[in-house]
Amino acid sequence: MSNEQNGGIESTLHETRVFPARPAKELGFDAWHVGTIDAYKDMHHRSMHDPEGFWREQAAAVDWFTPFEKVLEWNAPDAKWFLGGTLNACFNCVDRHVKAGHGDETALVWEGEPLGVHTGHPAPGSNYEKAPEIRRFTYRDMQRKTARLGNVLKSLGVKKGDVVTIYMPMVPELVVAVLACARIGAVHSVIFGGFAPQSISERMVDAKSKVILTADGGWRRGEIVPLLKNVATACDTLKGSGDAVREVFVLRRSGQDVREQVESIKAGGARVTWYHESVPEASDECRCEPMGSEDRLFLLYTSGSTGKPKGIMHTTGGYLVYCAMTARLTFNLIPARGQLFWCTADVGWITGHSYVIYGVMANRVPTLIYEGAPNFPENDRFWSIIARHKVTQFYTAPTAIRTFMKWGDDLPAKHDLSSLRLLGTVGEPINPEAWMWYHAHIGRSRCPIVDTYWQTETGGHVITPLPGAIATKPGSCTLPMPGIDAAVVNEQGHELPPNSGGLLVIRRPWPGMLRSVHGDHDRYVKTYWSRVKDPRTGQPFYFSADGARRDSDGYFWVMGRVDDVINVSGHRLGTMEVESALVSHPAVAEAAVVGMPHEVKGTGVCAFVTLKPAWLKAEPGRAPDDALKKVLGAHVAKEIGAFARPDSIRFAEGLPKTRSGKIMRRLLRDVAAGVQKITQDTSTLEDFSVVAKLSADED
Ligand code: PRX
Repeated sequence: MSNEQNGGIESTLHETRVFPARPAKELGFDAWHVGTIDAYKDMHHRSMHDPEGFWREQAAAVDWFTPFEKVLEWNAPDAKWFLGGTLNACFNCVDRHVKAGHGDETALVWEGEPLGVHTGHPAPGSNYEKAPEIRRFTYRDMQRKTARLGNVLKSLGVKKGDVVTIYMPMVPELVVAVLACARIGAVHSVIFGGFAPQSISERMVDAKSKVILTADGGWRRGEIVPLLKNVATACDTLKGSGDAVREVFVLRRSGQDVREQVESIKAGGARVTWYHESVPEASDECRCEPMGSEDRLFLLYTSGSTGKPKGIMHTTGGYLVYCAMTARLTFNLIPARGQLFWCTADVGWITGHSYVIYGVMANRVPTLIYEGAPNFPENDRFWSIIARHKVTQFYTAPTAIRTFMKWGDDLPAKHDLSSLRLLGTVGEPINPEAWMWYHAHIGRSRCPIVDTYWQTETGGHVITPLPGAIATKPGSCTLPMPGIDAAVVNEQGHELPPNSGGLLVIRRPWPGMLRSVHGDHDRYVKTYWSRVKDPRTGQPFYFSADGARRDSDGYFWVMGRVDDVINVSGHRLGTMEVESALVSHPAVAEAAVVGMPHEVKGTGVCAFVTLKPAWLKAEPGRAPDDALKKVLGAHVAKEIGAFARPDSIRFAEGLPKTRSGKIMRRLLRDVAAGVQKITQDTSTLEDFSVVAKLSADED
């Protein structure tokens, strides 16, 4: 496994550089939450030997309406955390801070993408024409806004436990929408704004969600993303069915004419309510609903190894305790100490849930949100944002870092980045070269880098450096979070010796873990808790679907997915999803999608496609040519979203299959990666000539 799974990060095997943790004061922090390696080891040791005591302590950082009676009930693989406790996630992120006298502190800072086109909030002291729109919200503002929107949602018939879909741009109202759901006990299901109509309707049907919050459009790279248009198309496909959308709630952001979409949605039987017409009128008294610790907080759809995305279910108490703890420890969050945390992820992904909203706001540290693209109007937009707002902790993805490297060292050099104290990365393995560039050019060889390994399913970081305690090595996510029993094991569940590649598992439950796959508990059991067991007790381990190794210091080096999921620019994508999109085009007979090394994206999408002879013959001029590749690429973008568009499409006469009819993906991966010699055992191939043809057909 080790060779084929390391997806271009082979150089990490030879990585020997070590960067010791530094004193907090040198970086502008008062202190570290965990300041020495011994303190980390003690904390981890305690969490393994007295887990109940450890988690009870961590849970005290959260405000409970009713205290819990029991820390954990574990009937593998079903966990219930903090039983008997009630709490509210919005209360913890907002109202609690107001109640404690911090209502006037900044909760959220937002910067819009357009320059000079705004509603009257230019950046202080800057040229109005060139200034972005900036809005700031205190905890009191957030309390009022979430209460008002909560009341409007109730008036639209949303009840505790209902699933509300959110498909919005990166604007403050998106955070308000998420927290308003939490406030009234509705379950939010956020869909990334880059997804296409088909993905919206699929998710709404699966979640049985009848209500969607959206906007007339969002700004990205100087253009308007047609969010409402996509929603209208999704509504159209569902109209008249039992799954028809009932309520569409729209924020005016772009101001474009959307009368046609509104009429179409109404004609399909859904009601349209505008934010600006309903929210200002609503009462700002709306209590935070007491939620059981195991009541659902949200669903978040993510890709798996089948064509159907799964709704990962997180519950209130465990998720909040875990993401607040990890945010505090990994980023050294401390309230009222001049910190401004910026995580560049979209709220449509788990990173945005945990580290744009819940983990950061629960710790009473202001969170920054930027609406648009890193290259608008110029390639240095991120650095200008850091300088303008004096961002102290910055968290982004390796793919972004590799893009910045390409854009050149002079861009960050032009800006004052001295406010930065800590940097983070997430989403995919970071190659040491990108790590070193980040360290030198953004962190100015001063800031620690936390390479945080985790997943939608884990709720928060599970393997990551704690910046004051753990020395870092470029490309390694280092050591497990306190409370996390991570290991690299073989198929039999035995822990492997240093430097052997194996399966990355977590051997005991933790509060932030997913509780189920919405509507398919069997899939939860099969996907995560069936592959590897404790060889002594037979208890299942949590299987991450990642391959990893540990080095002789116990550091983890994640090698990448061992299932049919690929990480494209840090976006998780099921190869089967792309295949389904391709075969839904009339030209395509069969498709096989694999990842291929990509300089910027980490992994690119490579699709092998066979065409229907009848389709080719039906009209003159139809051929497996570049024009058809473009058409198929656009088709995938339309079906799933632009980020899924294949980087390479290769036509083949047949796909290599085993005798049992399974597509030989390992072989296709080699072909996609340009490995000249086909190294796999091909004796089970049905048709050898296929291999030769595929290898010869260079894109
Ligand atoms: O393969 C791992 C990779 O991203 C996957 C999880 O994707 P998703 O659920 O979309 O969540 C991304 C943000 C948490 C993992 O199975 N991954 C995530 N972080 C890292 C990583 N691989 C290596 N190093 C990381 N720091």
